[in-house]
Amino acid sequence: MGKKKLLVVGGTGYLGQHLLQAYYASSSSSDTNGNGVSSFDLAFTHHSTPPPKLLLHAIPGSIPFQVDLKTGVGFESISNAFGQPDVVVNCAAMSVPRACETDPDTAHAINVPSALVNWLQSFKEKISLLIHLSTDQVYEGEKSFYKEEDIAIPVNVYGKTKVAAEQFISENYSNYAILRSSIIYGPQTVSPVPKSLPIQWMDGVLAKGEEVQFFHDEFRCPIFVKDLVNMILALTRLWISEDKQIQLLLNAGGPDRVSRVQMAEAVAQFRGYDTSKIKSVSASSVDRGVKSPSDISMDITRLLQTLKIHPVSFKDGVRLTLEAEAKN
Ligand SMILES: NC(=O)c1ccc[n+]([C@@H]2O[C@H](COP(=O)([O-])OP(=O)(O)OC[C@H]3O[C@@H](n4cnc5c(N)ncnc54)[C@H](OP(=O)(O)O)[C@@H]3O)[C@@H](O)[C@H]2O)c1
Repeated sequence: MGKKKLLVVGGTGYLGQHLLQAYYASSSSSDTNGNGVSSFDLAFTHHSTPPPKLLLHAIPGSIPFQVDLKTGVGFESISNAFGQPDVVVNCAAMSVPRACETDPDTAHAINVPSALVNWLQSFKEKISLLIHLSTDQVYEGEKSFYKEEDIAIPVNVYGKTKVAAEQFISENYSNYAILRSSIIYGPQTVSPVPKSLPIQWMDGVLAKGEEVQFFHDEFRCPIFVKDLVNMILALTRLWISEDKQIQLLLNAGGPDRVSRVQMAEAVAQFRGYDTSKIKSVSASSVDRGVKSPSDISMDITRLLQTLKIHPVSFKDGVRLTLEAEAKN
């Protein structure tokens, strides 16, 4: 059996980098002479900047391709130089809700992966598995613990583009898994991403010992990045070993429904900071330039039953994140 080909679209982003490193680690072992042996061929896409050197160094042998999801320019080079991937994970997006609100057309063009799906359909002999990242922001936020079958009523452009993406994939492709991710948190990536990371940001502001305001009335089920990566690894293995097409929609959250206040308290407690500096305010007291759903906590029963993956508690995820940062 030839080596399987894995393609991470958006490999330079936060999730993409963690995933690439995990794919690399899971496929790398040593032969009797101590030479690296890889059971996967790995490729990834980048867009606005050249592939970071630190990332290339961390995953030797992987091939970078410049691709624009808006136009599909770049996919043909992948066909020519890498061939048809067995598994494609789409981690690329315009993922900042405020940016989507300001430029809805671009958000739609990037977040609805029509060019990617059309490219995958151009391969006639076999079908690839498409694992696509969606968001908890497809839900309206008016109740707790949304289930996958609850109606998606997004309140902002970001959520609307993600619902449109889910619809496009399910109507036009027959072998896919869509993961509705909550806030992704965890250690920094091998090549640091420009955006601020939630736990590290909270740690930074609380470390100053000054009073800081956090929302008490916005609830999420944050997911530790390594758990999300493990879900993608499990789906990859399933397709490679069973060769059975799937049409799967999963809430991909952690086990705990937490407010920003509770998130900040978990960071403060781990660090031993004064929790009285955490000031509780309503999300409605701040204009963030984009509507944000109040409670989009998710029921993850289907995830637990389907993939048998039990994400770590938020408290443990905070500890793992800050311990990993201390080692870097
Ligand atoms: N982070 C979260 O808390 C969170 C929560 C829920 C859902 N999600 C979803 O999970 C996925 C991964 O999120 P993330 O935080 O890892 O995202 P991210 O760090 O913002 O990375 C986005 C990626 O998209 C690529 N990209 C942007 N515009 C592109 C274009 N026109 N063509 C091709 N690629 C383009 C970027 O490439 P360059 O950097 O090279 O331009 C980058 O690799 C996204 O779908 C996001 O919506 C994230």
